[in-house]
Amino acid sequence: MTLVCRFAILPCMCGIVGYIGPRDITSVLLVGLERLSYRGYDSSGIAVITDGELGCWKKEGKIHELSEEIKSLTIKGNVGIGHTRWATHGVPNTINAHPHLDTGSSIAVVHNGIIENYLSLKKKIKAAGYIMRSQTDSEVIVHLIDMYYKGDLAQAVRMAMTELEGSFGLSVICENEPDKIVVCRKDSPLILGLGKGENFVSSDINAIVTHTRDMVFLEDGHMAIVTQDDVTLTDFEGKAVEMKVEQVTWNAEASEKSGFDHFMLKEIHEQPTVVRRIIDKHVSVDGALQFNHLEEAMKDLTKSMRFIIQACGTSWHAGLIGKYLWEEYAHVPTEVDISSEFRYRQMLSGSDEFVVAISQSGETADTLACIREAKSKFFKILSFVNVKGSSIDRESDAVVYTHSGPEIGVASTKNYIAQLLNVYLFGLYLGQLKGHLSKADVIKKVAQVKRLPGQLEKILDQAPTFKAIAEKYYKSREFIFIGRGLNYPTALEGALKLKEISYIHATGYPAGELKHGPIALIDEKLPVVCLAPNSVTYEKMISNIEEVRARGGRIIIVATEGNEAVKDLAEDVIYIPECDEEFSPILSVVPLQLLSYYIAIMLECDVDQPRNLAKSVTVE
Ligand code: F6R
Repeated sequence: MTLVCRFAILPCMCGIVGYIGPRDITSVLLVGLERLSYRGYDSSGIAVITDGELGCWKKEGKIHELSEEIKSLTIKGNVGIGHTRWATHGVPNTINAHPHLDTGSSIAVVHNGIIENYLSLKKKIKAAGYIMRSQTDSEVIVHLIDMYYKGDLAQAVRMAMTELEGSFGLSVICENEPDKIVVCRKDSPLILGLGKGENFVSSDINAIVTHTRDMVFLEDGHMAIVTQDDVTLTDFEGKAVEMKVEQVTWNAEASEKSGFDHFMLKEIHEQPTVVRRIIDKHVSVDGALQFNHLEEAMKDLTKSMRFIIQACGTSWHAGLIGKYLWEEYAHVPTEVDISSEFRYRQMLSGSDEFVVAISQSGETADTLACIREAKSKFFKILSFVNVKGSSIDRESDAVVYTHSGPEIGVASTKNYIAQLLNVYLFGLYLGQLKGHLSKADVIKKVAQVKRLPGQLEKILDQAPTFKAIAEKYYKSREFIFIGRGLNYPTALEGALKLKEISYIHATGYPAGELKHGPIALIDEKLPVVCLAPNSVTYEKMISNIEEVRARGGRIIIVATEGNEAVKDLAEDVIYIPECDEEFSPILSVVPLQLLSYYIAIMLECDVDQPRNLAKSVTVE
């Protein structure tokens, strides 16, 4: 077997914010960091130039620990940078937190990414007499900049960058030049927010969207000198680059909890609205489907002989459902792979084949690396992405935006539903273009889609029932989820939701596989969540449930409204509204999201920021 060598991209999963202007600097930085904290939350810090002197405050733990630490201080100044960290190199502690300072404490750097040659750079700077304080790769950057600093910060950053291998989003300030922030980007997102008499820097729209909608998305290889009234954009050599200002439409409230206890709960309740929004985007008044911005790509997509979907986590589950639908509706053979596996295999491309990336963030390192590798093998790339302007968005040949709005809860909920619906509608559209579905077939299916928001609302109204069920089972240390066909991915998704936010071990299985091993786990203590909505495999599913029952498992069934028979088989039954089988995953996952949510709350877990996780997985 030939092992294929891939390029490694290992940025750290952190958040950057920067500000230059007249506002209260600590408040802009801390609020920005709070809004970025879903990207990493093990330590944080800010650096501000106060009366010509650089000050730096850092703290292990969540942002509120840092806020507590500095709340009694008066930190004045009009230029500063901040960072929230998810550790890659070096344990999460105060020393390893960013910003990192040079030996004389006059330059401060925050860094997202990984410096792959940091060991050799460390040797170099040590030989030049510098002392490293932290265990991070990032600290070498500030010493390199200091080494090259001869009174021109931008030039020193430029020279340091020529030595850096790996990925970086950098923001740098220097007390000798308190009128600017220098930023640069290679393989790690960085955005400028433009204001009047003030400017912002961030790794993510969320941190600054409350202040401005005018944003510049830095491209790889771009650097900017940001002053209070101006931005100079260049490439790494210092050659001027044309600046494209984009208007961001996400509203700031979308990143607020709006009265809900947690973002996750809010986002679960937003699902009917998300579905309505997607219908508005893709369904015309006469019930026909439209994918306007795909027109160009559609010629190639219609000729497509094979799709290879690759994605991670919840997005991979959406891909598994995509396979069923695209093969059914459009008769195109479709494979689904986990990105971190796909990227290290031979990618054998024939003609007219698309690699499809599904990603909420559009920044997931493995998914991004796969599309880059696939492009080099002459595959065309179609992506389903939520975050506009993200790397996957920019590097794909065709993009379907999932339109779920900002998703802040680390566990994906509303974006999963959005991915599913977009994958459905795209499959129907392609099926029609390829002549496997008639216009009338599509209009009939779309009529069902239009019922989904009301049906989702009906499920959400049952939240107290799901809470009561959670109360019965929350002390169990293990769960199994089973499903067949289109609801096998729902079983995987239900198990993933539960384990990531409640730390209970949970596994999803295709129900038919149970007797090939996992059935050995079943005893009278084990809750088994069985997805049994009306379907072609319903009878088989019931036989599998009987197998669990015979071994004493505690059965919770998700079934279609009106199915009274299941009550005799289960300790608890959850009903979803009647719908065609193919739409059932959009409905059946919602009770599982809420069940996980309530169990996690009862176990006093941090549902929005579960331990060890970050929203955007930008490391391999
Ligand atoms: C689980 C979850 C993750 C993501 C995965 C891929 O709730 O959110 O499993 O689905 O990390 O992320 P994206 O979709 O941003 O590529």
